[in-house]
Amino acid sequence: MQTVSRLDMLRTAVADLRRGGARLALVPTMGALHEGHLTLVREAKKRAERVVVSIFVNPTQFGPNEDLDAYPRVLDEDQRLLEAEGVDLLWAPTVSEMYPEGFASSISVRAVSMHFCGEARPGHFDGVATVVCKLFNQVLPDFAFFGEKDWQQLAVIRQMARDLNLGAPQPEAIFGVPTVREADGLAMSSRNRYLTPEQRAAAASLPRAMRHAIARIEGGEIAAPALDELKHTLGAAGFHQVDYAGLADAASLAPVDQVAGRPVRLLVAARIGGTRLIDNMPLAAPQS
Ligand code: PAF
Repeated sequence: MQTVSRLDMLRTAVADLRRGGARLALVPTMGALHEGHLTLVREAKKRAERVVVSIFVNPTQFGPNEDLDAYPRVLDEDQRLLEAEGVDLLWAPTVSEMYPEGFASSISVRAVSMHFCGEARPGHFDGVATVVCKLFNQVLPDFAFFGEKDWQQLAVIRQMARDLNLGAPQPEAIFGVPTVREADGLAMSSRNRYLTPEQRAAAASLPRAMRHAIARIEGGEIAAPALDELKHTLGAAGFHQVDYAGLADAASLAPVDQVAGRPVRLLVAARIGGTRLIDNMPLAAPQS
């Protein structure tokens, strides 16, 4: 596996990989890779002859009081994991390569980023949409793969690709891959590394409480009390803040208060210690 950190080197390496008509898949990441990321790579390998992974801790998607400095950067370890998966190319640009002096553009994807993480982390999705658009234009992949753990992010990226008529990848070649979970149900995340053993044990209450709320709502109960109980359960387990716990139209990310005639997901973001965890799960229509 080749690692490149300059755009001119990336372009040459991508041209080499494409030789003979090989199709290219891109897996954008911020590194600190775990089984969730490696699952994206494996899915990418099923579709494309060549796989490029990017690792870039994107400063523009972090708020002023967020964990940009603390975000784990473990390039050597990540390289070993990607090598073992048979990844062809690692694109690991520096901040100045991605955002050269004078950089002045930003992509803002409105409706879909209005609520949930968009509200809790102002500017976050502008940073995501801008860097992902740049990554797409830099690599020009046939396919791109993202984890469904960041459900709203995936919706923002798809909307951006449709709205801006991106050709590489085509919007329909942007794939979401189901969340990979630890044995106790906690969604895998690079941020799980921040958790102390006690916080890690308590964090498993997040998916459990979500499943319980979903069972109540799918059983026909109205959503509000089920979501109140979910927040209370998280508080009792040691989460000191719930940024949001709500139902959303799975495609538009508009908040909804019931499941009726369209796919709906439960989305939650909650903080334990200094760590913010997010998760989401689908709901089936209630039995009538
Ligand atoms: O999900 C992530 O790791 C990041 O938000 C992404 C998509 C790589 C953009 O920086």
